[in-house]
Amino acid sequence: MRKKLIAGNWKMNGSLAANEALVAALRAGMGNAQCLVAVCVPAPYLAQVQQLVAGSAIDLGAQDVSQHESGAFTGEFSAGMLRDFGVRYCLVGHSERRQYHSETDVVVATKAQRALAAGITPIVCVGETLAEREAGRTEEVVKRQMAAVIHANGHCISEIVVAYEPVWAIGTGKTATPEQAQQVHAVLRSQLHAATEQAERMLILYGGSMNAANASQLLGQADIDGGLIGGASLKAPDFLTIIAAAG
Ligand code: PGA
Repeated sequence: MRKKLIAGNWKMNGSLAANEALVAALRAGMGNAQCLVAVCVPAPYLAQVQQLVAGSAIDLGAQDVSQHESGAFTGEFSAGMLRDFGVRYCLVGHSERRQYHSETDVVVATKAQRALAAGITPIVCVGETLAEREAGRTEEVVKRQMAAVIHANGHCISEIVVAYEPVWAIGTGKTATPEQAQQVHAVLRSQLHAATEQAERMLILYGGSMNAANASQLLGQADIDGGLIGGASLKAPDFLTIIAAAG
């Protein structure tokens, strides 16, 4: 039985005061959560949130990492630096990075490698655009994105977390139906089976307008092992409802 992971992706939101209030509300409301819980916060707040989650069941996550180990890469931060702040998870290849920062499949795969080498679990995001879905290319696209990460990471692939995030569902209020999501999750799981004997214990999260109302149905699917939550992770009651639904 896979333990589910509910990870919040705060994106570029928050402030010292707002973060403090949000984490305090999560800590107060979590009770004995049965699932794994993480918050992926903006880099400038890693040190703050490391302190805020200390001693709780909430793990710290980052939203990106450099593909390089160190050196003259102004504005970037390395996996080793993230590790210094107790970072446990790091998003890589989020569609907003692929789209607005031109991250290719190869760059995403290298970032996953950097995270793994530093002892951080990369949450590798894959997903098709609306145009790709409408053209019947969903499987082809997610398998291509996944294949690059499998190729670069060899047997370490079993140490990653995958997040299926259809681009058309992110921040739009349009969620994939549980059946649509499960179908893609099953495709990804079978691709992982071909790459590792550990595929059955690997986590494949769903992301894209998951919220307090639709979480339990999505999380009830056989191959949906948790959620990557954007908007709803900024509201403590909603995020707590999703955590409870994963229990
Ligand atoms: P959303 O974002 O829940 O706001 O759709 C999910 C994500 O981008 O990770």
